[in-house]
Amino acid sequence: MKALIASGGRGTRLRPITHTRNKHLIPIANKPILHYAIEAAADAGIKEVAIVINADSDEVPRAIGDGSRWGIRITYIPQLTPGGLAQVVALAEEFVGKDQFIFYLGDNLVVGGVRRFIDEFLRSGCNCYLTLSRVKDPERFGVPEIRDGRIVSVEEKPKQPKSSFAVAGIYLYDHHIFEAVKAITPSTRGELEISDAHQYLIDKGYKVGFAEITGWWKDTGKPTDLLEANRLVLEYITPDIQGEVDDRSTIAGKVIVERGARIVNSVVRGPAIIGENCVIEDSYVGPFSSIGSKTVVRRSEVEYSIILRECRILNIGIRLEGSILGNDVEIVEATGKPLVHRFLIGDQSRVEVV
Ligand code: G1P
Repeated sequence: MKALIASGGRGTRLRPITHTRNKHLIPIANKPILHYAIEAAADAGIKEVAIVINADSDEVPRAIGDGSRWGIRITYIPQLTPGGLAQVVALAEEFVGKDQFIFYLGDNLVVGGVRRFIDEFLRSGCNCYLTLSRVKDPERFGVPEIRDGRIVSVEEKPKQPKSSFAVAGIYLYDHHIFEAVKAITPSTRGELEISDAHQYLIDKGYKVGFAEITGWWKDTGKPTDLLEANRLVLEYITPDIQGEVDDRSTIAGKVIVERGARIVNSVVRGPAIIGENCVIEDSYVGPFSSIGSKTVVRRSEVEYSIILRECRILNIGIRLEGSILGNDVEIVEATGKPLVHRFLIGDQSRVEVV
């Protein structure tokens, strides 16, 4: 069993955060999203992992390395231009050989790992095994039509979905998938769709099975998905206070305070994670907040937000909520006259003021 992880694409729906960072490296609970896919593969006992990356950037290999820290070997496969998920699979044919493999979209998060799906796939004798999750908005995803307990069709982003399931970005295959990805043609959006490859397998009479993901699953395509994924992952953290918390501070609920962080005269209400060498002073950090390393929050309030590294949130009179800040962002009290909101904001940012 091998693993193939997708980490390419441009992450356009997550701009401006993705102007300077591959979306798979955005931290969720202070850990790059991509780590969760790699850990899931490693936890399932997989040793050989390939990650498909954008050919014009070495950001992912630099951040992830050779896999030794997870006890696995990582091979990087460059993709010249984004051409769809079926193209990602096609690029991995040599790496996979005749083995069975799990294809994991690096921006998907699932609770409880993938071992269960691998075991079921291996027992089922299927050529292709899809994981499904019930969603409110199936039209955003690949959608299966299920009759008599069998998948009879899969459609990509259908206007009229034939079920309330999304095909999640965790797929199990044998080598017949390579026949499928080579046979299909680009869709109207110009991509080789993974759903078309699945439809090909169904049409050719290959055995396509499925499992329902009963816990939570999240595809982190939009900013609100990131916040929601962050919330879900924080629900599962184990409290751990490595930094300093002074006597005037209150830590309530599940909170991680990483090494070198200082909590001074503040309230941190979990689940929340405060990164290494942060300073939280005269402030409130509320549930579902992840604060990256070396960030300073002083005389301010933050809740349900993802704050990356080295930000400064100082003396602001309102609570930041549902916010995502990149690295090195400042939100500070206005001083001097006139008393105004003053913005210095890059392309495709968004600010809401009261
Ligand atoms: C892709 C797949 C889609 C699948 C989804 C899961 O969509 O094409 O079939 O349901 O991932 O995350 P995309 O994220 O490229 O819109």
